[in-house]
Amino acid sequence: MNIALLGTGLIGTFYCMSFHGLRSRDKVSVVYSRSAERGARFATDNNIPKWTTDLKEAVTAPQVDVVVVGLPNNLHKEAIFAAVDAGKAVLCTKPLARNAHEAWEILQKVETAGVFHGYLEDLVYTPKHLKAHASVENGAIGKVLWVRSREAHPGPHSDWFWNPDLSGGGAIIDLGCHCIEIGRSFIGKDIRPVEVVCWADTQVKPIDAEDNAIGLVRYQNGAIGQFEVSWCFRGGMELKDEVSGVDGSIRLDNFLRTGFEMYSAPGKKGYVAEKAESDSGWLFPVGDEVHELGYNHMFMDMFNSIEKGKKPIEDFYDGYVVNAIMDACYKSAKTKKWEPVELKEWRGKTEVEPLSAFVEYGQNHWLVKEELLPDGRKKVILKEKLRKKVILKEKLSGEIIQIEV
Ligand SMILES: NC(=O)c1ccc[n+]([C@@H]2O[C@H](COP(=O)([O-])OP(=O)(O)OC[C@H]3O[C@@H](n4cnc5c(N)ncnc54)[C@H](O)[C@@H]3O)[C@@H](O)[C@H]2O)c1
Repeated sequence: MNIALLGTGLIGTFYCMSFHGLRSRDKVSVVYSRSAERGARFATDNNIPKWTTDLKEAVTAPQVDVVVVGLPNNLHKEAIFAAVDAGKAVLCTKPLARNAHEAWEILQKVETAGVFHGYLEDLVYTPKHLKAHASVENGAIGKVLWVRSREAHPGPHSDWFWNPDLSGGGAIIDLGCHCIEIGRSFIGKDIRPVEVVCWADTQVKPIDAEDNAIGLVRYQNGAIGQFEVSWCFRGGMELKDEVSGVDGSIRLDNFLRTGFEMYSAPGKKGYVAEKAESDSGWLFPVGDEVHELGYNHMFMDMFNSIEKGKKPIEDFYDGYVVNAIMDACYKSAKTKKWEPVELKEWRGKTEVEPLSAFVEYGQNHWLVKEELLPDGRKKVILKEKLRKKVILKEKLSGEIIQIEV
């Protein structure tokens, strides 16, 4: 792929490390930066043949196959529209937009033009997530009941994130978008998110946006996606997920504690990991951030999909759904009530199976619970299949005791 990279900030740097790492055959052929000085330096550092401060010049360059948008949230729509008008495939970082209205306009634009579109939600592409998704699909943990996803760090690195007019919000729009899509990808992207309840507050920072939030997203089959986000968490960046299924559970740590711990009394002197607050004492480096954060697998899926003319795992419809869920979260944080997720169009299942998975115990009973007690007795709690009233039977050491509840 010949890439036009828009933006030379943190995400532009990570994306470029992914494109140009490991002898990749995908190359940035032109980079756009609003600052000539930064553009020139970025191009030299990354061996990019051309840089420009003119966005239109970057996206219309004839050798460019795909435009990658790594600009602040308020510029996503304008950049995507320019790429589409140039007839180019377009990939956009998260969040797709500042709200669902803007995301819908973007979706309409790419779909009307018929160009390839990919939503760059790297955290559903981490090697750990890809393996966990495959296990869930193979039934390793049964039906997914609850997904808890947490992203927390001491706050973003550029001024525009802190201005909700430019970013669209605070920690929810910045970090919640990752957690929500992680929830969807385990629960099933074809299961409709129905309603949300959310707490959000500005507890610490002098800003007009939330610096902490917790939300629950209820899906049509009864599953729950829970997100926890913070811009005030001290000690680095936490990316943690827990998936609970009827038959098992999964825990994932993608950052901060990945099995690599270092103690340095004099200090490591330099970069440790994204959002690390110190370079001395106990440190939690990450072996290969670009890989472990999912960028390599994400771009592999995107570029393979462009070449094969197929839909990638994440496209702008996913970005739109995430924006719609976040809009409902902002509403709920104000009303303090469950609020519906309003989608102009739902493309997944309309009929879903309930989550219940009854287990038979003989012909006449359902098993409620079985447990071995510390004194060696086995307890079995049963419900008679045909009785409407709940009758629980406790079976202790071979004896059946009936208890009416
Ligand atoms: N894991 C991820 O997927 C991830 C991580 C970080 C950021 N992001 C996203 O990437 C985007 C950029 O974030 P970042 O962290 O790189 O921010 P940044 O501030 O580090 O970089 C932003 C870039 O845009 C440029 N820019 C800023 N204002 C501009 C303007 N008015 N006109 C033209 N250029 C302008 C800056 O000069 C810089 O090159 C955001 O949408 C953010 O949410 C995604």
